[in-house]
Amino acid sequence: ESNELAYRVQLVKEQMGTRLFLPGHHYQKDEVIEFADARGDSLQLAQISASQHEAEAIVFCGVHFMAETADILTRDNQKVYLPDMRAGCTMADMANFNQTEKAWERLMAEFSETILPLTYVNSTADIKAFVGKHGGATVTSSNAEKMIKWAFTQKERILFLPDQHLGRNTAYDLGISLDKMAVWDPIKEELVYEGDFDDVKVILWKGHCSVHENFTIANVHQVREENPDMNIIVHPECRREVVELSDKSGSTNYIIQMIDQAPPGSSWAIGTEMNLVKRIINQHPDQHIISLNPNMCPCLTMNRIDLPHLAWSLESIAQGEPTNLIEVEEETAVDAKKALDRMLLRA
Ligand code: 13P
Ligand code: SF4
Repeated sequence: ESNELAYRVQLVKEQMGTRLFLPGHHYQKDEVIEFADARGDSLQLAQISASQHEAEAIVFCGVHFMAETADILTRDNQKVYLPDMRAGCTMADMANFNQTEKAWERLMAEFSETILPLTYVNSTADIKAFVGKHGGATVTSSNAEKMIKWAFTQKERILFLPDQHLGRNTAYDLGISLDKMAVWDPIKEELVYEGDFDDVKVILWKGHCSVHENFTIANVHQVREENPDMNIIVHPECRREVVELSDKSGSTNYIIQMIDQAPPGSSWAIGTEMNLVKRIINQHPDQHIISLNPNMCPCLTMNRIDLPHLAWSLESIAQGEPTNLIEVEEETAVDAKKALDRMLLRA
């Protein structure tokens, strides 16, 4: 049956040619990513979307916020579709517009105009628009360092949404100590200081990735015990203490590059999403590669895009009755684009 589905996908791709474009995130299943016209991490996919002028239909093989980003960056004739509307992101869902407005009000009262908001691209279009409107920018895990440095040329403090771990890990690497960071809890609506009140430089939104939080210190200790020669490489969405104990940390693209460049016979334990780890293992039979967590850690929402949904979505477009259009409202898109453009200009 999967052969038949693959044939149907291929058929639509051939029929539509360059009128159709399929970007795919590295965390997508093999059965889907094999049809992608371009594959990449979030930064690359944002850049690729921004440069797409020919295709009239972009079918995004990734999660909802990525499809929204593609729509924001392609405001002319292109239409963006997501093969399954349930492909969301638990992290993006941890910051909504009302919560952000409330937090901002409190932070303004405490720090007046000294804060610049930054948001990880893993956020809804509303949050990107809020950030864009207040002079801030988006970041991805590939350029978070560069963007935080830029933010400090604008203001004394930053509010980093919605992933506390990427914010904390990146700020720490830039030499900002943990006692200069505070965490905003959007549920309790309170700011928890880790150090001196006046000196706070980075305010982290209390959000996280439910996939990368599954890599633990216990996993690191177990790998070290069983194989002391193993290099441990993790995504910066992992908790601070896990990144601290690992050998290397970096974005999806960084992880792929490090393993590609490693000599045959080297050993790696990788702390990131399962589909990517499995693919890396298959592509490097000359290396000894495992997942840092033996349970593998899939992203369930990324996995909602599967071959049946892809075939169904493509056929609906080819038949002139497209489903699952992603359309960001104009006013939101204009402000969100400001935040994205500030990043793309510097990426
Ligand atoms: P990157 O693609 O920036 O590495 O982000 C990982 C991720 O969690 C995407 O949802
Ligand atoms: Fe969201 Fe994490 Fe899945 Fe990425 S891996 S889409 S951040 S839940």
